[in-house]
Amino acid sequence: MTSNALSTVILAAGKGTRMKSRLPKVLHEIAGRPMLGHVLANTRFERDTRTVLVVGPDMDRVSDYARSVRPDIAVVVQQKQLGTGDAARTALPELHDSDGVVLVVFGDTPLVRAETLENMADACRKSGSIVILGFEAADPTGYGRVLLEGDQVQRIVEHKDASEGERRTTLCFGGPMAVPAGHFGKLLEGLGNDNAQGEYYLTDLVALGRDAGLDCICVTCPEADIQGVNSRADLASAEASLQRRMRAEAMAKGVTFLDPETVYLSFDTKLGRDVTVGQNVVFGPGCDIADGVTIKAFSHLEGAAVAEDADIGPFARIRPGTEIGRKAKIGNFVETKKAKIEDGAKVNHLSYIGDARVGAGANIGAGTITCNYDGYNKFFTDIGAGAFVGSNSSLVAPVKIGDGAYLGSGSVVTKDVSADALAVARGRQMEKPGWAAAFRAKNESIKKASSGD
Ligand code: UD1
Ligand code: CA
Repeated sequence: MTSNALSTVILAAGKGTRMKSRLPKVLHEIAGRPMLGHVLANTRFERDTRTVLVVGPDMDRVSDYARSVRPDIAVVVQQKQLGTGDAARTALPELHDSDGVVLVVFGDTPLVRAETLENMADACRKSGSIVILGFEAADPTGYGRVLLEGDQVQRIVEHKDASEGERRTTLCFGGPMAVPAGHFGKLLEGLGNDNAQGEYYLTDLVALGRDAGLDCICVTCPEADIQGVNSRADLASAEASLQRRMRAEAMAKGVTFLDPETVYLSFDTKLGRDVTVGQNVVFGPGCDIADGVTIKAFSHLEGAAVAEDADIGPFARIRPGTEIGRKAKIGNFVETKKAKIEDGAKVNHLSYIGDARVGAGANIGAGTITCNYDGYNKFFTDIGAGAFVGSNSSLVAPVKIGDGAYLGSGSVVTKDVSADALAVARGRQMEKPGWAAAFRAKNESIKKASSGD
């Protein structure tokens, strides 16, 4: 009987010098989540698994992040970056299983699909062979080339070590490799570093495996699923690939994008059926958009829950902690933050609603501001159901507007307003009859007198 055990080793100790960054490479974000977060999500298998993360020294931020996502992860430190094979070797003390499969994945290939990795592990378990993931590269420069003999992989040759003929091979190694656990440690012991980079290459395991009588199979996936990130240009390219994938998935589930290429999603964006998203809309992390919602052009949303049939934008800025009710309406140049806009309420133009509740059916006039901050503390504004806030009002929090109350335009409200009352908090209008005509007459006569000189 073969063991179902699966150990996953994630290699993330490389400094990623070509990123030219203070941030370790695997913490650079794609679709609002660190690359490593994508890898951790794609290697969360439902079976007897163990995950080991290999980091470099001084990479506490990487291990802290990984533990925050997967508290049970084992972290090992590779003291010197002597290559991917050496990195895999540092994980060995954490892999007690001598049966089952060891799956090695790279922290800088964030787009690989969970099912691809699972299929590789299954194929390795069933066949007892090494299984590697390859892809046809549009531009193979820099990647390890997969050299085949029939349907068997003979070896992988790194770009820097490859002959001109070998470099013409477009089948490249993507990073993931599944190895029968019983052979993993022994094969790693055999690695040398006699190559162009003086490194211990994980990729040499293939040739060593064949020498030891193991077969090696290459399964393939599209380049967009396995492209590696070594530079900022690669990061942008991986971002574009993931955006395309997520948009396609959303459209397949019943979302309309008026111009898909201009909409940016986060890794966790939830869009219901019959959601319509206009041009140039950006979703930051934490958005949950229910069925039938319309989001018009140039809106930016993050950390927001939007209920059925609400209507947002154009040019709306929806910040974290916003909840928008059914059929509510948020119009142009409106900013919300930690705000509960209840069912059917309307905030149609040029308003800031922060640390506030806007009750069901309330109407917030143009230019309304919740003054929620005194430079030190934040205060709450509570606007009751059915209230009508006249345009250009400032609500100085903490303050409560009762249900059904009316506020005169241009009010600066500093005291609570009772339900169904009218409150007007502004200078009273007065009138001087004929004042303007007298003013003009006086000034015209002065002008005439001085030009006659
Ligand atoms: C590697 C492969 C190459 C493959 C490509 C796919 C090797 C020798 N080469 O090349 O065949 O086509 O990935 O993207 O494996 N790392 C460590 N410790 C080290 C060195 C690297 O943990 O000492 C980690 C890095 O953080 C990275 C991963 O291993 O996440 C891959 O290393 P990298 O240096 O990016 O390898 P590539 O040159 O891209
Ligand atoms: Ca790489």
